[in-house]
Amino acid sequence: MKILVTGGAGFIGSAVIRHIIHNTDDEVLNVDKLTYAGNLESLKDIEQSARYKFQQIDICNKEALEQAFDSFQPNLVMHLAAESHVDRSIDGPAEFINTNIVGTYHLLEVARQYWQSLDDIGKQQFKFHHISTDEVYGDLEGTNDLFTEITPYAPSSPYSASKASSDHLVRAWHRTYSLPILVTNCSNNYGPYHFPEKLIPLVILNALDGKALPIYGKGDQIRDWLFVEDHARALYTVVTEGVIGETYNIGGHNEKQNIEVVKTICQILDELKPQANGQQYESLITFVKDRPGHDLRYAIDASKIADELKWMPIETFDSGIRKTVEWYLNNIEWCRRVQDGSYQRERLGAGE
Ligand SMILES: NC(=O)c1ccc[n+]([C@@H]2O[C@H](COP(=O)([O-])OP(=O)(O)OC[C@H]3O[C@@H](n4cnc5c(N)ncnc54)[C@H](O)[C@@H]3O)[C@@H](O)[C@H]2O)c1
Repeated sequence: MKILVTGGAGFIGSAVIRHIIHNTDDEVLNVDKLTYAGNLESLKDIEQSARYKFQQIDICNKEALEQAFDSFQPNLVMHLAAESHVDRSIDGPAEFINTNIVGTYHLLEVARQYWQSLDDIGKQQFKFHHISTDEVYGDLEGTNDLFTEITPYAPSSPYSASKASSDHLVRAWHRTYSLPILVTNCSNNYGPYHFPEKLIPLVILNALDGKALPIYGKGDQIRDWLFVEDHARALYTVVTEGVIGETYNIGGHNEKQNIEVVKTICQILDELKPQANGQQYESLITFVKDRPGHDLRYAIDASKIADELKWMPIETFDSGIRKTVEWYLNNIEWCRRVQDGSYQRERLGAGE
């Protein structure tokens, strides 16, 4: 298979590409704009592979996308490119509307024209897989419910509203134009190569620097945490074996309050890299004003993908979070280059 992956320099996209190159014979074209969240250093493991190519393209640039489709001739598209950080969407929603909605529209149009130009066998093989989030379903506060594939959409933030909008576009392109699509909605991911603005890497790196560990509100927000390599495996299963037109929810069966997550990280760090001053890392926890519109609880019912495609997560939260902390301790150079911006300066070729 030839797989065009958008957003492959990001956290989940890079895990998907590493999974494909390490475990299959497929070829990958990584199409990524390289925003602040795109980091080609996350692909060092596989960048020398003859089955891997990269093109720096903004998905809002239709002509560049057309050229990429024409020259690569993909069988499958996995669409992960997005603006993904809720806090940034509150401070500046415009980029979220551009990339997540307008960019997805351009990608759908280019994919549709390309798919229509294929012969019958090419048409039958082609699939467009849109990667989305459980945040489109809104808040489960005060219930024991789980999100299923038919839970109505009720997004709360500019980020989740823009992802909801892109999900609707993708399903409309299937219903109206018969474009062969698949949609997945996944819970919060964590693991190696996670950009240090997100909760888990931020807490690990702040702790190592002896800085405050900021927690929104009371830290009672509940997320269903999934190890990123389990997600990458789920996505490959869906794009290769999923039924056209279907949606699959992907989750980790790991509902945890944010405060529990942070305390677990502190305990692992106390064991693996105790603070020089002898204090426990938990003493660095600081509660800060809650994010506006913050959803209290998300939880996924992942029984459809388990029953129909036989996918289950391998990592428990305990095993995955330990692997994650160990990865950050062993890859501190990757983190420092993100924190000091050198991962971007080098690729832009800037001088001193
Ligand atoms: N991180 C999570 O917990 C999570 C959970 C469920 C779903 N998702 C979804 O998975 C996808 C990937 O998430 P992530 O955490 O890897 O995000 P990320 O922010 O780490 O990476 C996004 C990637 O997209 C690229 N990109 C951004 N705008 C672009 C544009 N206009 N054109 C081309 N490339 C562009 C960035 O350079 C970056 O490499 C997103 O669609 C997100 O909504 C994420």
